[in-house]
Amino acid sequence: MMNEKIVHKVRATFAAKFGQDPVLVKAPGRINLIGEHTDYNNGFVLPAAVDQSIYLAVSKSGSNESTLISLDMDETFSFSVDDFQPSATTSWANYIMGVVAEIQKTGLLAEGFQMVFSGDVPRGSGMSSSAALECGTCFALNELFELNISKLEMLKMAQKAEHNYVGVMCGIMDQFASMMGSEDHALKLDCQSLDFEHFPIELSEHIIVLCNSNVSHNLADSEYNIRRQQCEEGVAILKKSYNAVSSLRDVTLEQLNAHKQELSDVVYKRCKYVIEENERVVRMTQALSDADFPTVGEILKVAQEGMREEYEISCPEIDFMAGFANSRQDVLGARMMGGGFGGCTINLVNRGSEDLFISELNSAYQKKFNKEITPIKVKISDGVKRIQA
Ligand code: GLA
Repeated sequence: MMNEKIVHKVRATFAAKFGQDPVLVKAPGRINLIGEHTDYNNGFVLPAAVDQSIYLAVSKSGSNESTLISLDMDETFSFSVDDFQPSATTSWANYIMGVVAEIQKTGLLAEGFQMVFSGDVPRGSGMSSSAALECGTCFALNELFELNISKLEMLKMAQKAEHNYVGVMCGIMDQFASMMGSEDHALKLDCQSLDFEHFPIELSEHIIVLCNSNVSHNLADSEYNIRRQQCEEGVAILKKSYNAVSSLRDVTLEQLNAHKQELSDVVYKRCKYVIEENERVVRMTQALSDADFPTVGEILKVAQEGMREEYEISCPEIDFMAGFANSRQDVLGARMMGGGFGGCTINLVNRGSEDLFISELNSAYQKKFNKEITPIKVKISDGVKRIQA
């Protein structure tokens, strides 16, 4: 489904400012059923693209100058494709310039373009609005300039854009989901080999509800990179005993425990979480295949505990929301989703109970934190694609 209102706004602004027929692209955000912080540890993840998307309109500018209009930020940014660098003031432009820089590394793309975009992926909510913007930009430029870059190459470029222009050393999950998603299917992705399979999601009498805490994760960027370093520190120490280990993917809990004394408490906790989270992805795919929803719910609950206690990426608001959900009969399980420190919880709820759950959670949250949650019902949808101009 397209958000017609947003598409209309993007199209109308593009026509008014640039007057040409643009290439129009829809780039989705994502959910993640399980597997947080496993991607950059070469592990497994189970994300899916969702309907909430960024819509981009692009056309050639006919010169080296590029003009970008973010309708949601109500800002315009210009740069020359000959000479640009990350912006210290207009952070959203970095996602786009970062992609241009990656495409240029391959020797393609020397011309400027103009872009208008807007979306309904809430920012800072753990739904990967950044990957949607990066993947949407790459896909749109690939179409516009007929660059012939494969989807796999494009999603890798999108990830590199985030590393090099935004400074978040993210894994590959978000870009993979936004680029490769398929309606009603999650992606069962091995982040080491990048082998993946479209995994059907049939929830029978259950429904996925996201609840946005409306705590935007400011801390996330710096803490994210710290988590990554802590995992690398663990690997470096374990490698001394196990030659074949090149990431936490290769480490068992027994091996980790055998070397507990060599690791700091923090690094031990981080590694334990990642190893267990990887196992949870495997168990979750099995439980979903078996339509064993109580087990799916249990895995979500245990994952939340791991994020709270061991990886330490939760926050009081999320603890409260997940705790509230996990104590209810009509919720099978809930946990925080995404990079951490706020954003959304993902809740597996009995179909038909979702409105009551949302309203009771909202009242309790309001009472405690004096602010509201935003419920988000998601539909699993296709990855980035071109839409009718
Ligand atoms: C962010 C990153 C992803 C992944 C998640 C946590 O969304 O972009 O690569 O690491 O956090 O699972």
